Amino acid sequence: MRLDKLFSQSTVFTRSQAKIHIKKGKVKVDGETIKNPAQHITDNATVEYMGVSISKPKLRYIMLNKPTGVVCANIDKDHPTVFDSLFVPNVESLHVAGRLDIDTTGLVLLTDDGQWLHQITSPKHNHKKVYLVDLDSDITEKQIRILSEGVQLKAEKERSKPAEIDIISKTRIRLTISEGKYHQVKRMMAAVGNHVIKLHREKIADIILDDALAAGQWRELSDLEIKL
Ligand code: URA
Repeated sequence: MRLDKLFSQSTVFTRSQAKIHIKKGKVKVDGETIKNPAQHITDNATVEYMGVSISKPKLRYIMLNKPTGVVCANIDKDHPTVFDSLFVPNVESLHVAGRLDIDTTGLVLLTDDGQWLHQITSPKHNHKKVYLVDLDSDITEKQIRILSEGVQLKAEKERSKPAEIDIISKTRIRLTISEGKYHQVKRMMAAVGNHVIKLHREKIADIILDDALAAGQWRELSDLEIKL
């Protein structure tokens, strides 16, 4: 992590105040004065401000039950964002692991741990995502077969990976997929001739949306949930 970022996240200083203190030579790393705010700091380094050791910020891992009407973006001029409801310090250092559309509800993960973010979002790791899908028309045998074999989406070279489908009712299915392309579920259903009217994410990898969280509520992940 950059020295100015670490310093501002561990203290009350803003990033620009942190830069000024560093440039003035008030910050030491492993006993040596460092005046370059962009200096990369290793995990084990000891950082001091005017002789006082500062503890590094604890990485944060959050699950949010996203309500409809809220966007998974840092800033939006027309709609509330997932960050607006958190009321945590340094909210700008959190990132969404797997966005949901404005009208999709359910599990959103937020973190400031870049490595974990990469782990959970990288297509290489193939983490499964589970969605509850309400459909416009009855699901047919043919649609189920195509989805479970891999459906050809518009503007994609390759077919999507096989999906797992549990039928809950004629118009409600539980869909498990391991991809996260733009509008993936809506495009999959459109490609088989159906239409999503409601979408809710229940699970990402082994992390299940806590049913104690009402729409808009959040909690930190447990140590067990963080282990991917
Ligand atoms: N697939 C979609 O189409 N939308 C979402 O929000 C998530 C997955």
